[in-house]
Amino acid sequence: MRILLTTIPGLENIVEKEVKEKIGSLEYVNYSELSGRVYASIRNGISLLQKLHELRCIERVILILGEGEISKDTVDVQVDIELITRYLGPRMTFMVRSLRTGEHDFTSVDLAAALGEKTQRGIYEKYGFYPEVSLSDPDIILYVEAIGKTYRWGIDLTGLNALHRRRYKVYVHPSSLNPLIAYSMCRIAEVEKKRRILDPMCGSGTILIEGKYLNPSLEAWGLDINPQHIAGARLNSAQAGVEVFFKTADVAEADSLFPASFFDAIITNPPFGIREKSVYTLPRLYTLLVEKSEKLLKSGGVLCVLTPRKKLLLNILTKHRFSVKEIHTIRHGGITSFIITAAKT
Ligand SMILES: C[S@@+](CC[C@H](N)C(=O)[O-])C[C@H]1O[C@@H](n2cnc3c(N)ncnc32)[C@H](O)[C@@H]1O
Repeated sequence: MRILLTTIPGLENIVEKEVKEKIGSLEYVNYSELSGRVYASIRNGISLLQKLHELRCIERVILILGEGEISKDTVDVQVDIELITRYLGPRMTFMVRSLRTGEHDFTSVDLAAALGEKTQRGIYEKYGFYPEVSLSDPDIILYVEAIGKTYRWGIDLTGLNALHRRRYKVYVHPSSLNPLIAYSMCRIAEVEKKRRILDPMCGSGTILIEGKYLNPSLEAWGLDINPQHIAGARLNSAQAGVEVFFKTADVAEADSLFPASFFDAIITNPPFGIREKSVYTLPRLYTLLVEKSEKLLKSGGVLCVLTPRKKLLLNILTKHRFSVKEIHTIRHGGITSFIITAAKT
């Protein structure tokens, strides 16, 4: 059984790690970096399909039912009508999602329309019923992609709501971090091996909540200068059913709140100048973050920061007791950002 797992471009290796850990009977996993798509083949698939939805760094699970070559100028996809009717029966509705990358003379909308029309015509001719399209409440979602010369089609098993929509988000921060990225940052910082972590600009608490899911025995602390966000973070962690300690505070005072070398990891996504204003300029705020982290982290402790301002942060890190371990590039919300991980020396 072949599946496609979609994620945020740049997080493919985290998906691979998680799939290997949690899904036993894997035959292969492969992906291109920054594609946002991880292909895998699993044995005894049916029982595992639900388990795949428990992965914390994927958006969607797609069951691939067919693939072939597509020409550059004509949209022509071959579908197996019998296979589709295993999922799409009389009086059921469907919609088609599509993705296209590479050079083609057709759009992703043309691609979706081609699969939709073939499905309707094929089912009508073979089985005598005509499945209707519903964009607001379909019973099933078909998926088709054209990646260069290859097309693949299948069933999107995740439905209308992608998996980044966590139920615990009862308070939505204006710059709320996508939980897939928050989870991945916790994986990169190896939270599963840590005892105590801090997010000093925690907003609605996404990183800390994902960290607690990854490691329930973790002691997690969150600070934010805005009391409204701290109140929201408390609501979110209560909804998530995890214990996190939150306090309204400026990162500048963080070293007066905790003893030196108190934390194993500091994981955060600070403002970067587009939506979130700070009381400090960005260079000052990032300097404060690094200075306070230097004091609050144990030797060997990890500072893991998501920011598009790579140069600025690297520059500040070189002036402090940190050595950069890893830089992950991700593409999200129309911008390129970096997950920069540095260890306190
Ligand atoms: C990008 S948001 C974090 C979003 C968060 N990860 C989430 O998922 O909700 C950055 C946060 O930094 C906070 N912040 C800005 N300046 C701060 C400072 N000096 N000290 C502490 N928090 C600060 C803002 O209030 C904002 O909530």
